[in-house]
Amino acid sequence: MSDVFEKIVSLCKRRGFIFPSSEIYGGLSATYDYGPLGVELKRNVQSRWWEAMVYQHENVEGIDAAILMHPTVWKASGHVEAFNDPLIDDKASKMRYRADQLIEGHIERLRRQGKEDRADAVQKRLVEALHAADMPKALHAIIMDEEIRSPDSGAFDWTEVRQFNLMFSTYVGPVQEEEHKIYLRPETAQGIFVNFHNVRETARLQIPFGIAQIGKAFRNEIVARQFIFRMREFEQMEMQYFVKPGTQMEAFEQWREKRMQWHIDNGIRPSKLRWHVHEKLAHYADAAMDIQYQYPIGWQEVEGIHSRTDYDLRRHQEFSGKKMEYFDPQTNERYIPYVVETSAGLDRTILMLLSEAYDEDEVDGEKRVVLRFHPRIAPVKAAVFPLVKKDGMPDIAHAIEEDLRRHHNVFYDEKGAVGRRYRRMDEIGTPFCITVDGQTLEDGTVTVRDRDTMAQIRIPKDNVATYIFDKVRTWKREG
Ligand code: GAP
Repeated sequence: MSDVFEKIVSLCKRRGFIFPSSEIYGGLSATYDYGPLGVELKRNVQSRWWEAMVYQHENVEGIDAAILMHPTVWKASGHVEAFNDPLIDDKASKMRYRADQLIEGHIERLRRQGKEDRADAVQKRLVEALHAADMPKALHAIIMDEEIRSPDSGAFDWTEVRQFNLMFSTYVGPVQEEEHKIYLRPETAQGIFVNFHNVRETARLQIPFGIAQIGKAFRNEIVARQFIFRMREFEQMEMQYFVKPGTQMEAFEQWREKRMQWHIDNGIRPSKLRWHVHEKLAHYADAAMDIQYQYPIGWQEVEGIHSRTDYDLRRHQEFSGKKMEYFDPQTNERYIPYVVETSAGLDRTILMLLSEAYDEDEVDGEKRVVLRFHPRIAPVKAAVFPLVKKDGMPDIAHAIEEDLRRHHNVFYDEKGAVGRRYRRMDEIGTPFCITVDGQTLEDGTVTVRDRDTMAQIRIPKDNVATYIFDKVRTWKREG
């Protein structure tokens, strides 16, 4: 883990953003709980996404489908048959690895050693192997030929590569037999596909239109040790946009632009975002690109934009026997719509925002840790302090606090030196600190201290709410 990454993980725990799940029992790997500040951050991101996708598009509606679905859904979607990772076991340590990731690690090592030609050759073989009819065998051959050793034990004693299904299963009702087996959804998208007609009819939508959803997804990830980057229980923000066949590339480009802009509008620097073209397209996709962010652990995917053709609706038509066609009143044609999907990981978005916001500087010779969140995203918008606990200052501060609470999550603090109070707020990314002091008693003004510049200005106490509203609206990241 990188130094910054470790600092973020530790800050998250210390200040109540994110805790290991079931910590008093030693934790459960790759599952995390959001604490009081984490849940505020999460809700802010969810609202931003919902506003951008649903409220700002008259032809996009939201749903909230059940996590448990009819088991045939996952046969139709292809997840029962093909939602697999290629795994290989180190016989010496009994550790299990993803074969493709072992090879990627090997390629990175070759590049670090300056062996670019060899790295390129292995990379080419990896892409071919991922497309091969017998993918496990092709990956195994690379590991053997390149003599890739186990990262933990250093041994070169591998099993064959086997496919491992990533879905969690359970049984519905009291009988634990195959016919009662169901799955925890591995993506939210299928809840949208099966509700295609329900939403279209009730919301009276015409193509093109979208259905958006935020919800939990579950995957039995094998390599899961990167904090909230790869979890077994996580949250997705997905939108399926249904279009006329032949127009999907236009929609793909539009959504690509909008989704990239959304991340930038949340305060992510464009230089830290890039597009990644999929090396291996799923057999049903005709285009797929990921938005990657430069996390402290390297460039990684935060969101995927996929053109999924009519695959999902066609398969649901086949497996359910129900028509998934759309009658186009403009052209009098009947067709199964094509779909462009935008699929963002909520937790990866949070990790990106934390990574982007984390900063350290020096104030009066002391280290200051500051989270420079966009004020819209910040879990606490403002803190209100009376300079001292007397002369009626707490009453005035409470009145300001109450006023702000009608619109924002606000924190009141009257304990300790004001400098310390500022520091505690910087560390959780609170953009504005309002202090009631002696002068407030004389002229009714308060100080507002800016988290980023630490500059203080005086404004009338009655103007605090509008001041914050304006600042939130016009905030831009420096640099
Ligand atoms: N419906 C399409 C779909 O699920 P995906 O690329 O498998 O596509 C979409 O997942 C997004 O979900 C990813 O870009 C990522 O942000 C997030 N995601 C996937 N697996 C995850 C995991 N194990 N932990 C956290 N986020 C994950």
